[in-house]
Amino acid sequence: CNTTALLASGYDIPLVGLGTWKSEPGRVTAAVKSALASGYRHIDCAAIYKNEDEVGNALAASIHQGVVRREDVFITSKLWNSDHSDRRVKAACLKSMRDLRVDYLDLYLIHWPVTGNRGPDVQPPLLETWKAMQDLVCQGLVRSIGVSNFSVSKMEGLMTAPGVPLSVCQVECHPYFRNDGVHAWCKQQGIHMTAYSPLGSADSASLLGRNAQMLLQNETLLSIANDLKRSPAEVLLQWGLRNGTSILPKSTSSERIKANLASLDWQLPQVAFEALNNLDYQRRMVDGSFWVNPAGPYSNLEELWK
Ligand code: A2P
Repeated sequence: CNTTALLASGYDIPLVGLGTWKSEPGRVTAAVKSALASGYRHIDCAAIYKNEDEVGNALAASIHQGVVRREDVFITSKLWNSDHSDRRVKAACLKSMRDLRVDYLDLYLIHWPVTGNRGPDVQPPLLETWKAMQDLVCQGLVRSIGVSNFSVSKMEGLMTAPGVPLSVCQVECHPYFRNDGVHAWCKQQGIHMTAYSPLGSADSASLLGRNAQMLLQNETLLSIANDLKRSPAEVLLQWGLRNGTSILPKSTSSERIKANLASLDWQLPQVAFEALNNLDYQRRMVDGSFWVNPAGPYSNLEELWK
């Protein structure tokens, strides 16, 4: 349960974390309690998920009941688009900390390279926001910092700031979108990559109105799972670990929460790993099209991801 990767900051990140995007406020408290009781030591949160307060309740109750100690759990939150700029970062971080009932975050990420604004302040002040993120580490509020949904060139822009390193890049990653370019660059730079939607995020398809292929129903995957006598989800999660990322399977079902952590307990054979590495269909589920706007800063998807 305690398998971890070492971050550039010097802290360890547990390889399996519970994802909480789309976990309904009414269910997420039970999901986090169940995850912590099953042995999860990493919970991935964000202000925009609108459920950090409920996650905080679960965390506080689990600590109070002696299920875990604060120092044993890795808690991530993310800065939302409307909180870019050095005037807003600290207040946004403190709000998430208050909701999560913690006095430090293990990891704080810039959620998107986007302000969500129109008009004069449409350009995200990425470097300014990043320096404010670095200050949070200097002030002892946050242990490690990073980004989510950033391209290599946008990360390169941040790397020009000396001081606190960029420790984590959290992006969509699964056999239907391996994100190879970002992954190779992160490895070279000593940045840890975390895979969100490691199961291909079937529920995002309906949420985003996407007519996408469902990874969990892919024939190659089903046949590998059948041969190995594992569930397709177990195979995908092992693929993510074998690919060298940490993984954030989201679930609110206590059975699936347990099963997903057990992905640490076995090894996907090399030949199966390679077969899943060779799936042609390579498309993002969370493609960011909701940020594309002729008023800028990204007038098409290439600009967002380049
Ligand atoms: P649920 O919350 O009902 O378990 P991703 O992390 O790729 O976004 O995938 C999350 C989706 O996959 C959710 O719909 C979640 O539903 C479902 N899910 C989570 N764990 C499993 C599992 N072990 N087997 C099948 N589906 C799963």
